[in-house]
Amino acid sequence: MRNKLIFRKAKISDAEDIKKLTDFYARRGIMLFRPIYEIYSDIRDYFVAERNKKIVGCCALHVLGKEYKPGNRGRILAETRSLVVAKKFQKRGMGTKLVEECIREAGRMGINKIFTLTLEENVSFFKRLGFRTIRKSGLPQKIWQECVNCSRFPSNCNETPLILEI
Ligand SMILES: CC(C)(COP(=O)(O)OP(=O)(O)OC[C@H]1O[C@@H](n2cnc3c(N)ncnc32)[C@H](O)[C@@H]1OP(=O)(O)O)[C@@H](O)C(=O)NCCC(=O)NCCS
Repeated sequence: MRNKLIFRKAKISDAEDIKKLTDFYARRGIMLFRPIYEIYSDIRDYFVAERNKKIVGCCALHVLGKEYKPGNRGRILAETRSLVVAKKFQKRGMGTKLVEECIREAGRMGINKIFTLTLEENVSFFKRLGFRTIRKSGLPQKIWQECVNCSRFPSNCNETPLILEI
């Protein structure tokens, strides 16, 4: 069948295609590089969009676990990350579908808070999906696990944090 588009969980054989898709934007400073070993070890995090047997989009739901911060009310935290749609397939709803798959999976797993860090140009995309902007200090786990290793940390960070409570 022509132009067959499916959204599914990633398989091991998708890892190198995920790497190529995400490296394209990592080279442009739009997302973090993920080494291939990390994509393999986190492969269960990823959803992919497959068009005519080719991977044209991906998004990962990465579980952080119980939220450790004052006032936590039993929140279990996860992050949507590595969201990419190949340039020529953008603006057709694929990115939305990939994030919706992550949100559905989070709901099934009992996760009740999803966050993302994104550039200003994508803020309206996430808001349309129900996310709202917060201050970076609202995400201490992300900051101490990953942001501290970023060359832009702390004062040159160009990303906006958003959360979705489900
Ligand atoms: C961010 C990204 C994944 C969005 O993917 P996408 O497939 O273009 O997303 P969608 O098509 O679902 O939505 C994008 C926009 O197109 C619009 N759109 C969706 N379907 C459409 C259609 N059929 N016709 C016209 N516009 C459409 C949406 O309303 C949305 O507008 P908004 O951003 O103002 O809310 C993509 O732009 C991308 O890969 N960017 C580079 C990497 C990146 O920045 N990743 C995010 C890191 S957190």
